[in-house]
Formats: sequence, structure tokens, C-alpha cells
Amino acid sequence: MATFSVHTYGCQMNVRDSELLARRLRAAGFADAPSEDEADVVIVNSCSVREKAEEKALGKLGMLCAARRDRPGLVVGLTGCMANRLGTDVFGLVPGLSFSVGPRAAGAAITDLVARGLAGERGLFLGDAARAADGAAGEANDAGADVPAGTSAPASFVTILYGCNQRCSYCIVPSVRGREESRDPRAILDEVRAEAARGAKDVTLLGQSVMRYGRMGFAWPEDLPSPMGFTEPLPRLLELIAREVPAVRRLRFTSGHPLGVTPELVRAMRELPAVCAHLHLPMQSGSDRVLKEMRRGYDRARYLDAVRLLREGVPDIAITTDVIVGFPGETEADFELTRSAMEEAAFDNAFVFKYSPRPGTPSAERPDDVADDEKRRRDQVLLADQDARGQRLNDRWIGRTVEVLADGPSLRNAARWSGRTEQNKIVVFEPVPGLARGDFVRVRVESAHPQTLFGAVIR
Ligand code: SAH
Ligand code: SF4
Ligand code: F3S
Repeated sequence: MATFSVHTYGCQMNVRDSELLARRLRAAGFADAPSEDEADVVIVNSCSVREKAEEKALGKLGMLCAARRDRPGLVVGLTGCMANRLGTDVFGLVPGLSFSVGPRAAGAAITDLVARGLAGERGLFLGDAARAADGAAGEANDAGADVPAGTSAPASFVTILYGCNQRCSYCIVPSVRGREESRDPRAILDEVRAEAARGAKDVTLLGQSVMRYGRMGFAWPEDLPSPMGFTEPLPRLLELIAREVPAVRRLRFTSGHPLGVTPELVRAMRELPAVCAHLHLPMQSGSDRVLKEMRRGYDRARYLDAVRLLREGVPDIAITTDVIVGFPGETEADFELTRSAMEEAAFDNAFVFKYSPRPGTPSAERPDDVADDEKRRRDQVLLADQDARGQRLNDRWIGRTVEVLADGPSLRNAARWSGRTEQNKIVVFEPVPGLARGDFVRVRVESAHPQTLFGAVIR
């Protein structure tokens, strides 16, 4: 029996796709390798969003192919966004690569590609464009369709919206993930139900711009009413899942967009107990000029309005964000506007990215004119601000009792466990006898760091 290992870069959608590929391979009789070094098949699930991410994946693929000297017969495969971006060029960059398959085509093709790789074939390519040209569109060819059995993590993901139509000027995702395509709510419901049956208690619904769910080429099925009177697809979907799958005690969705923060969505977040008081709402910049050049479709005031709407409507909500520093032409004044907007929005956490020009995107036509050192400085300033802000916000949880979904021993200190709150805050605590992964425990918060709460379990 051949063994496999999947190495994942990039976003949660990739994490989910990797999980589904692994389940498919198990269902086809392959086994998890004890370690990547011992695997017969290594699949690299890649990300194209920044140049660094691509460099890492290419480096890894090159190393794996070179390892064939000592491991003849090793199958090395690529999937994810780089497969679509590089097409057959990848075989020039990584000689010896067994196969490269796009993220949407991978589900249906993976077992065949692995088997052919094991039979010694090299240079097999199946991009997502070929999948569309086959006329084989729709659920049947997706990694997410007809999800094979397997155990689910207590916190699990389900993709609800493929692709992205937003075309932000710096972003490669629309060209590697294709057009927006919303999945049928019944297929989503089935998948969430299956995840719950396998142990998932916290489910995050995924889409690059998730609030666009059901907005394009889609009609909500008439036989699925909304007793709460929602008319928008995402609130209806949240209501449907909350009602039909009570075992999913926590429901989230990501990534958000300020124009998608409608009064109805805010009501769904407030009135559906399963929907968590947590939203990842990428801001990217606090400067109107930069936001316009990024083609984000909102300005600073509109973004901050969305934050206000959420804070007024959803008690204790945690809001996290993504920010890019060093976008072409970003001045010190633009940067300071990002700083002040982050303070105004009072983000619980922030991911800061140094701008990376991506081939074929509009902003890559412009000179990448903020020096690396300056990007690094801006990154560090924002992270220092965020540390101070995170500490301030987390200190407010001290003395409160929170419900934590226990995830297992903490990475830093195996004698302690970690888990997450509804706000998605990490909580570290001493385990109590009998505690199992996937249990909900009540923890009294005793101290806080910028990104972690510490506390004791209350019986
Ligand atoms: N669809 C999500 C984000 C997907 S990519 C959204 O729009 O919210 C994740 C993050 O990577 C983005 O939010 C952005 O901050 C960052 N990013 C995207 N393209 C980038 C680039 N060319 N350089 C640096 N960061 C980038
Ligand atoms: Fe990229 Fe913008 Fe789409 Fe996000 S919304 S994936 S940043 S194009
Ligand atoms: Fe990266 Fe593709 Fe996700 S480019 S961020 S893995 S959609």
C-alpha cells in the first residue's frame, strides 16, 4: 500500500482542499505516511498570492525531486493556485515533477494522477481551465463534492463560494481561482451535516469574498424558506445551517468585505446563537487614494461604518483584518492613515503583508517603488501597534468566563491545552481529568497577552 503526505501553503481554502484530497486518497486505499520523509507520494498544495509563497513551494518541489536520488520512485505532485498560474511551464521549473493539477480539477483527478505517477509517468498536467473546457463544470469535479468519510477536526471548514470576481488591482486570486461560483445550499448543508457527524463543532464557511455568496448566477431554492424573514443568500444559508445542524454549535464565515456588511447579515449574526461574534474583515489600507487604486470598492469612511454597524449590532464581536504595506505609491501620509484607521477600527488581530507585485495584475504594471526596508519598517510599526492594541483589548477579558472549544495540548507547552472562544481568541489552560479534544469547557480568564488569553477551567 503506497503512502502519501500533503504539504499545504496559503489560505484556509487550501487547508480544506488538502483535507479533502487526503480523504480521497485514503478512500482509494492509500495510507497516511508517518512522515513526509517516508512518503511514497508527496503533494504540495500551493499558493500564488505573494512571490515568497511561490518561491517556498518551488524550493520544496525542487528538493523533493532531488531526493529521488535516495528515494527512487518518489511521486511529487503539485496542486493549488500555482498549478493554474504556471500551466505546463512548471515542468521546466521543476524537472521531474510527476503531475500538476488545478484546485478545482484535483478532487476528481487525484487518485488517477497518483496511480499514474506511481506507475512512473511524469509531467502530467490538468489545469482548471481544461476542466471547464471538458464541460465537466459543477459539483462533480470539485474537491468539495461528495466528500469521502474520515474524521473531522472539532473546528472544520466548508467551502461555499469558489473563485472571485472582485479583481482588486494587486491580487492574483481571480486569475488562479476563476469566476465566482456559489455552491447549492443543499450540497453545503449535506457537507456541513457530514462534518458534524464526524465530530466538527465549529464550522467556518469559506469564500474569497464570502459575502458575495449567492449574488451571481444563482437563485435560492424556493423549497428552503426563511422563517426569520431573510432575503439575502448568506443570512439565509446561516439560518438554514443553524436550524438543521444543531451539533454545529459555532458557525463562522470568511473572508468578509465591508460592502457585504448589511443590516440583515448583522441581524443574522446577532439573532442566530450559533453564528459567532467574530469577523475577518480585510481593510487593506486606510487611505482613500490607495483604496481607490487597489479597486477595493469602498473608502475609509465606508469601511469604518461597516465596523461600527457590526460593533453596535453584535455584542462583544472580535474583528480581525488584513493590511498591505508598500502598495505602489504608498506615501508616509497614506501609511499613517492606515495606522489611524486600524486604531479607530480597534482590530483584535491583524495580518500585515508586504506588497508583492503579481504577474498579470494591474498594479504590477506600476513600479514597486516602496523599498523593501521601508516595507519592513511599516510592517513592524503596524505589528507593534497591533500588539499594544491586542493587549489592551484582551485585558478586558480578564475576570470573565468564556466558553472554549478544547483543541488539545498547546503547541508551546504540552502540559497545557489550548482552544478558542467564540471570538476566535486562543485560550491556554490547564487540562482537567477526562478532558477530550472537541469538548466545550468554561474557562475563567486570568491573564492576557496580545494574541492569547490564559485561564483556569471552571467546573
Ligand atoms: N479574499 C480575501 C483575501 C485573499 S488573499 C479578501 O479579499 O479578503 C489574503 C490577503 O493577502 C489579502 O487580504 C491581502 O491582504 C494579501 N494580498 C493579496 N495580494 C497581495 C499582494 N500582491 N501582495 C501582498 N499581499 C497581498
Ligand atoms: Fe483578491 Fe480582492 Fe478577490 Fe480578495 S476580494 S481574493 S483580495 S481580488
Ligand atoms: Fe493563495 Fe490561492 Fe488561497 S493564491 S491565498 S491559496 S486562493
